Amino acid sequence: MNNQSPHDFVRDNTTLTTTPLLPEIQLHLATEVTALWQATEETLAATNLPPPYWAFAWPGGQAVARLLLDRPELVAGKSVLDFAAGTGLVGIAAARAGAARVQSCDIDRFALSAIALNAGANGVEVKPVSADLVDRPLPGIDVVLAGDVCYERPMAERVTAWLRGVAATGTLVLLGDPGRAYVPTSGIERVGAYTVPTSLELEDREARDTTIWRLLPDA
Ligand SMILES: C[S@@+](CC[C@H](N)C(=O)[O-])C[C@H]1O[C@@H](n2cnc3c(N)ncnc32)[C@H](O)[C@@H]1O
Repeated sequence: MNNQSPHDFVRDNTTLTTTPLLPEIQLHLATEVTALWQATEETLAATNLPPPYWAFAWPGGQAVARLLLDRPELVAGKSVLDFAAGTGLVGIAAARAGAARVQSCDIDRFALSAIALNAGANGVEVKPVSADLVDRPLPGIDVVLAGDVCYERPMAERVTAWLRGVAATGTLVLLGDPGRAYVPTSGIERVGAYTVPTSLELEDREARDTTIWRLLPDA
């Protein structure tokens, strides 16, 4: 891995495929879940890299992406940020749904490669942004989309507090969440829900009921 570019690593360890909920969108995904996770974790111990979130379409992101394809008016003509984009699935769905501009941010450089490769595979324009935007203002962004970001307490609390402030400026903020431990329980409004088929290896069950919440300015 050390001599490989992130682009090559992503391509070599994934297969271009679709998920049952989103047959319209092709993604470079890990098919051998355990093998990739273990391989990366072994490398992680040596190199301190984060786990390969970018190789899986998480239920929260899948639900947001499905919602955008089913209700394109939510993003059509808008300037959109896919926060913590992973594969870039949500931003790709936003572009497909007619968003005017899409930026997809992540702090993992492999995710940035996955976002670029996956956008290219679907013939859409998405700008990968390599930055931690938390606590920064988002001028010019109409809609923020965040799939599956409430799986760890510090991140969930930091992101939720920031996004409530963003919502207070009039930006539409949508969170896709399959019942993770740290999803907010107040100051949210249900926009839609899907049952997302999942991998037993990754989620310990074959499907996850996943809700898309609108984050309100006040909890
Ligand atoms: C569980 S994955 C979700 C990916 C994608 N949204 C989905 O639903 O498939 C979480 C992602 O959050 C990213 N992440 C964590 N902290 C972040 C931060 N401060 N800014 C941007 N991305 C972050 C990780 O690198 C990872 O790709």
